[in-house]
Amino acid sequence: MAEDIRPVYEHVPSLLNASGATAILDLGCGRGEHLRMLAEHAFEDVRRVGIDSSQQSIDAARAATEGDPRFTFVVHDLTEGIPFEDGAFDRVLCVNVREGGSVA
Ligand SMILES: C[S@@+](CC[C@H](N)C(=O)[O-])C[C@H]1O[C@@H](n2cnc3c(N)ncnc32)[C@H](O)[C@@H]1O
Repeated sequence: MAEDIRPVYEHVPSLLNASGATAILDLGCGRGEHLRMLAEHAFEDVRRVGIDSSQQSIDAARAATEGDPRFTFVVHDLTEGIPFEDGAFDRVLCVNVREGGSVA
């Protein structure tokens, strides 16, 4: 991660209330950096799922979290909706996701 944008990533956990959280969904997760940063803060044991349409980004996210069962990364185009049941997550994150077009 570039040092100039690191403060952005460090700020995100403070926007989410970790109390009682069990599962976090990151829409347009890229390489999964937000979900990994959350692991360094108050969300240690929370299940984390990232969705991104880029296979390359998801491959990088999986490689960075290999062997850690708390992380799941899914290749999916969000303009087709969110491929999980309603209520499956109690925290949802979506940061800086625009270049792929409108998100449903
Ligand atoms: C600028 S990156 C931000 C990644 C991450 N949210 C972050 O803040 O580090 C934008 C990401 O959104 C993803 N994206 C854009 N449109 C999308 C779509 N329709 N469905 C899924 N992912 C999408 C891109 O593949 C890219 O990884």
